[in-house]
Amino acid sequence: MRFDVVSIFPEYLAPLELSLIGKARADGLLELAVHDLRSYTQDRHRTVDDTPYGGGAGMVMKPEPWAQALEDIAAASPVKRPVLIVPSPAGEVFTQKLAYELAEEDHLVFACGRYEGIDERVLEWAAEHYTVRPVSLGDYVLNGGEVAVLAMVEAIGRLIPGVVGNPESLVEESHSDGLLEYPVYTKPSNWRDRAVPEVLLSGNHGKIAKFRREHQLRRTAARRPDLLDTLDVSNFSKTERNVLWELGYAVEQGRAVRRTGE
Ligand code: ADE
Repeated sequence: MRFDVVSIFPEYLAPLELSLIGKARADGLLELAVHDLRSYTQDRHRTVDDTPYGGGAGMVMKPEPWAQALEDIAAASPVKRPVLIVPSPAGEVFTQKLAYELAEEDHLVFACGRYEGIDERVLEWAAEHYTVRPVSLGDYVLNGGEVAVLAMVEAIGRLIPGVVGNPESLVEESHSDGLLEYPVYTKPSNWRDRAVPEVLLSGNHGKIAKFRREHQLRRTAARRPDLLDTLDVSNFSKTERNVLWELGYAVEQGRAVRRTGE
């Protein structure tokens, strides 16, 4: 898998040399190049922005340096149509599902906007060479795309086979099955008068699995009820349905529906 990142602050991407992603790069599991947008400018001042047509606050990124950078990167791509991810609060929301989808690609290019964003025509033009996807980390505003790219490259990169040492840890984590992860504990079994739940010390794997599943459901209902609203629960066992009932949900047509007026 190849990643290219274009930014006016290439140093912002330095953390991608560390930890699991840094090691994956060193091991040749993924290739990552960071490009300075200013190196694609033609003028003495290496200008990347200008005032917005129609007026308003802030500056807009000029199209020419972007076209030059994206043209060069597309020409060197190992695939015919790489995916161009444009981090933006106006994009579709980045989820674990999208991370899995993007981890299947061979070449991802990230265009980090700053200021008020990139001239819209760049995205229209880029669609000739790329599959263009504006993507948002969430409903809040960052100063630019770089921090979003750090998060996305880490979330996507760790799904590439071999990057995470034990692939089992990808199975039992939050969002992998539409629910939040269960709580975890380590030694000592008693810490500041707080005991680890007894069942986890029992060695009974059936009971442990049941406990964890129950707590996944409890935690999701408490912290992210929106996830339960869209979950397919048609394959839920009697025990799981009982937990849902206790949490105030009935199962109707494969969905968890909040019980009201009881
Ligand atoms: N750039 C600015 N805000 C952003 C966000 N929420 N997600 C992705 N990129 C951004």
